[in-house]
Amino acid sequence: MNDPNVPDLTMPRPVRDSQSEMNEVVLPNDTNPLGTLLGGRLMHWIDLAGAMAAHRHSRNYVVTASIDHLDFWVPVHVGDLVILRSSVNRVFHTSMEVGVKVWVENYISDDCHHVSSAYLTFVAVDAGGRHLPVPAVIPESEDQRRRYDDAGRRREIRRAEYERRKANIR
Ligand SMILES: CC(C)(COP(=O)(O)OP(=O)(O)OC[C@H]1O[C@@H](n2cnc3c(N)ncnc32)[C@H](O)[C@@H]1OP(=O)(O)O)[C@@H](O)C(=O)NCCC(=O)NCCS
Repeated sequence: MNDPNVPDLTMPRPVRDSQSEMNEVVLPNDTNPLGTLLGGRLMHWIDLAGAMAAHRHSRNYVVTASIDHLDFWVPVHVGDLVILRSSVNRVFHTSMEVGVKVWVENYISDDCHHVSSAYLTFVAVDAGGRHLPVPAVIPESEDQRRRYDDAGRRREIRRAEYERRKANIR
């Protein structure tokens, strides 16, 4: 019989339980010679913000299996505040898709813009690197249900692309 004092980590969990937010102030060391944020720095923050939601949901170690296409819509300047919000869109078996939406806020001009959106796939692993099953995620809001359905379609596209690339590697 299960011990009522030990939480059951295999139970499905709502999206809201692992939604995460990470904030960064852009410093000179994060920028290029024009004083705008380096794309690579933002990619690093996106990976971290995504991993936060994946860790919280799976309650395990995770590794990044892939990051989908990224667009950077607006430049981000030194001194700006970057806000990254992440949530688990859907769990498959050992992998899960996490969406990260990035915003930039300028507290002098008091405006806020959408900078980028990213979809990442994380795989849950144990300390020895063996893949682990991830508990299902429960979408509750209309947006969460839409992301859940879209994540299924994106997985099919991702798999087809992966097979195509693999076939082209000599
Ligand atoms: C990602 C990784 C764990 C996949 O392991 P694998 O044994 O090749 O993969 P499998 O075919 O057994 O698939 C395991 C899961 O990962 C998913 N997966 C594997 N490669 C993927 C990719 N490129 N994109 C998205 N999902 C992927 C599979 O769909 C499967 O998901 P499911 O269990 O939910 O159905 C492995 O390639 C790895 O460890 N890569 C390095 C990860 C890393 O170090 N990342 C940091 C940057 S270097």
